[in-house]
Amino acid sequence: MYGDDIASVLITEQQIQDKIKELAKQVADDYPERGDRGDLLLVGVLKGAVMFMTDFARALPVPVQMEFMAVSSYGSSTSSSGVVRILKDLDRDIANRHVVIVEDIIDSGLTLSWLLKNLASRNPASLEVCTLLRKPDAVKVEVPVKYVGFEIPNEFVVGYGLDYAERYRDLPHIGTLDPKVYSS
Ligand code: XMP
Ligand code: MG
Repeated sequence: MYGDDIASVLITEQQIQDKIKELAKQVADDYPERGDRGDLLLVGVLKGAVMFMTDFARALPVPVQMEFMAVSSYGSSTSSSGVVRILKDLDRDIANRHVVIVEDIIDSGLTLSWLLKNLASRNPASLEVCTLLRKPDAVKVEVPVKYVGFEIPNEFVVGYGLDYAERYRDLPHIGTLDPKVYSS
């Protein structure tokens, strides 16, 4: 699939799925089953977190509810400015709910920092972050991230929800792109 566009596979499908089981165990230990509105509420950030969200939700041995948010960060296509616009807001109120934001990747951390402030202002009972990937620059912004799948090098990656010009989201693994893809 995608010919030889993927220069190297950074994280295999098996590694992703094993990590999700680990993360699910950690999260399940921290959020005992409470029933009804006590259910853990996962907030997925569209579109990148979709694959992670669906696999993660199914790996969790506790009931979860799911909400999605779409945000767009002003800035160039490869770096964000921290000025964020909501494209799709949550469908429901999160007041008094135990919320975990599910992210695909944290790069500068600016998008997440904005999102945390925005969701915190809605008075959830608790608010944590679970990200599949984190890049080194994320340390520059002080964002508390409780659950991290993989620390990756500062390279642009695609697959498993992550795109380049809306392509490659459907790959089951995560890899880097051949430079010819950017130049064509
Ligand atoms: P910040 O810098 O605010 O940005 O943490 C996070 C958002 O930037 C996108 N992003 C990437 N998307 N491959 C991608 O497909 C990458 O390597 C990458 N790095 C950052 C992504 O939308 C993320 O939510
Ligand atoms: Mg993208």
